[in-house]
Amino acid sequence: MAHPLAILPPMVDDLLRTEDELLRVVRAEGDFLTEIASHLIKAGGKRVRPGFAMASAAVLDPAGSPATIDVIRGGCAVELVHIGSLYHDDVMDDATTRRSVKSVNAEWGNLRAILAGDYLLGRASELASDLGTEVAGLLATTITQLCEGQILELESAYDPTRTVERYERSITGKTASLLAAACRIGAIVGELPRPVVESLTEFGLAYGMAFQVVDDILDIVATDEELGKPAGNDLLEGIYTLPVIHALAEENIATELRPLLTSSITADERDRARNLIRSSNGVRTALDVAQGWADKAAGTLTDLPDTPGAQALRAASADLIERANAPLS
Ligand code: IPE
Ligand code: IPE
Ligand code: MG
Ligand code: MG
Repeated sequence: MAHPLAILPPMVDDLLRTEDELLRVVRAEGDFLTEIASHLIKAGGKRVRPGFAMASAAVLDPAGSPATIDVIRGGCAVELVHIGSLYHDDVMDDATTRRSVKSVNAEWGNLRAILAGDYLLGRASELASDLGTEVAGLLATTITQLCEGQILELESAYDPTRTVERYERSITGKTASLLAAACRIGAIVGELPRPVVESLTEFGLAYGMAFQVVDDILDIVATDEELGKPAGNDLLEGIYTLPVIHALAEENIATELRPLLTSSITADERDRARNLIRSSNGVRTALDVAQGWADKAAGTLTDLPDTPGAQALRAASADLIERANAPLS
């Protein structure tokens, strides 16, 4: 599949430069740490966050020129925070696959996955500190928000009374904050005027909300193969996301669904629960919410000129909703 942002040749080149830079930055003194730290970089991934940093830096450039090395490095810092958080997330969620390969915890165990995740966060911080105090401070704040979002999720584990408000607070921290940071760092390093920096941050935040809602819908409707990570895992881990919360609000669904949602849920019960949620209006309602966030994201771009960078960000919002719709059609 083409990269959602790869609508222009310079961006394809910049994404290739990003791959080289990521592998260079994570090289450690020892071969073993280098191997673990580069595992998920080599496995692929959509690279949405570096793409957003580049597109944001370029939103006022009618020529869509290649990214500067500092913009590439800003994007890499954000991607390394993302990958480090995935190492830790897969330990927390007990996930065995990621990016269509074995997760780091499945391959090397939790201890090494935690350490290598910390190492990636350290490398990300080094990159950010070379880009100035504002970027370094922003990345540090984003890491704390990510932890706050993940803790909120843990606090609601196996709670069938989880509210939409608690769900939204968690995904703002665990996901939207990093997408907002990707855009903001691109805009700061690209030396854009402050009002544009603010608009792009709002774009990333709204897009990030839509992005996590779509990820949560896909956990209910897609297959392991489509996702490259275990589908239905949220239910096993007691993470009741937006489609589940809305399904539980339907009385006839809730009577059957609620007894299945326990910490001793089996794989069979998980499949029954997924079917029940798919037969409810929960997925449709969550999709409407994602569409609302994607529209809000697109709305933050209306004052920008029609440059290649702005076009790439608009295309990303549209592509996201298509991705959520694909397994439903
Ligand atoms: C996965 O992010 C974690 C979420 C925030 C949902 P991505 O869907 O961007 O994962 P990769 O980078 O493409 O693997
Ligand atoms: C995504 O968490 C956010 C972070 C990694 C901090 P999830 O647990 O929802 O993401 P997937 O579905 O495993 O990619
Ligand atoms: Mg997970
Ligand atoms: Mg998780």
